[in-house]
Amino acid sequence: MSDSPHATTAVVSAKGGVGKTTTAVNLGAALAVRGHTVLVVDLDCQASASLSLGLKRHQLAPSSADVLLRSEAAGPPGGAEHDEIHGSDLHF
Ligand SMILES: Nc1ncnc2c1ncn2[C@@H]1O[C@H](COP(=O)(O)OP(=O)(O)OP(=O)(O)O)[C@@H](O)[C@H]1O
Ligand SMILES: [Mg+2]
Repeated sequence: MSDSPHATTAVVSAKGGVGKTTTAVNLGAALAVRGHTVLVVDLDCQASASLSLGLKRHQLAPSSADVLLRSEAAGPPGGAEHDEIHGSDLHF
């Protein structure tokens, strides 16, 4: 992780079931507890990260695929409009 105020961390492995989601969710939670603003981006169609962070299946639309591929806006379920995330706002 860099000393930059803005850091992007990807948890990646070609092998399944090795703890990628568990690591990403807990790393995000640990950083949030320390006062950092954290965005966990769940790009897995299983939605395991979203579900483990407390979202219900009926709250999963629009999905990250809708945001990235169809430029739909997404925000937290029931969240304020200014918290919306647009596909063009995401840079990897
Ligand atoms: N450090 C750990 N010690 C023991 N069990 C763990 C640990 N990390 C994750 N697990 C368990 O291993 C299983 C797989 O974890 P996880 O879903 O995070 O893997 P994944 O790499 O995201 O899987 P997938 O490839 O299916 O997305 C889960 O049951 C999780 O609870
Ligand atoms: Mg996973």
